[in-house]
Amino acid sequence: MSALPEKYTRVAVALHWLIATLIVVNVLLIWSVDFLPDAWVRPVIDTHKSTGITVLGLALMRLLWRATHRPPALPAQYPAWEKIAAHVAHALLYVVMIALPLSGWMHDSAWKDAAEHPMFLYGLFEWPRIAAISSVEPDFKEVLHDRFGLVHEVFGFLLYGLYVLHVGAALKHQFRDKEPEIQRMLP
Ligand code: HEM
Repeated sequence: MSALPEKYTRVAVALHWLIATLIVVNVLLIWSVDFLPDAWVRPVIDTHKSTGITVLGLALMRLLWRATHRPPALPAQYPAWEKIAAHVAHALLYVVMIALPLSGWMHDSAWKDAAEHPMFLYGLFEWPRIAAISSVEPDFKEVLHDRFGLVHEVFGFLLYGLYVLHVGAALKHQFRDKEPEIQRMLP
């Protein structure tokens, strides 16, 4: 095993594990909807929306961290193709962390019944719909609702793929290459 790795800061580590956990929880919530009794569906989707907005806020904080800090360099012994693949995957994960919740919020803002079902963040206070979307005329709103729903779904599939790649690469470095990979992202 190599010497002590360069590590991320505590803020970056906290944001990484919090966002990773909330994303998994949010996917499990939405997957569970088809198997739940009717009375549970609305509260579970509402929790999905609140968790998603939380992820959006945390992802923006993480982007701010990234813009103001240099992350630790990847170990020099990693082959060039792995370093390039890691940078591309990390950039795409940032895109998905923002675009997935944002497209969900846009989809929800174009919902024709949104006005009768205000969104409350964790039931605590009202969270606004995006006015530029919720104020368009009903026929166009229906089109937008479908389109943003599709975008949300497609980003969901991109997330599944990136998650598998990201976790798979970390486990490969840790256990097959015997590099202290996960330690880079631990306090
Ligand atoms: C971490 C962030 C999020 C993740 C990982 C996520 C993931 C997903 C996934 C995988 C689906 C199923 C798509 C499909 O196959 O049809 C979905 C559906 C949905 N999401 Fe999200 N989403 C997130 C954030 C949000 C946000 C912020 C909102 C709204 C404020 C939202 C609203 C919805 C709605 C309304 C649906 C459709 C539910 C239904 O009627 O079946 N999502 N989401």
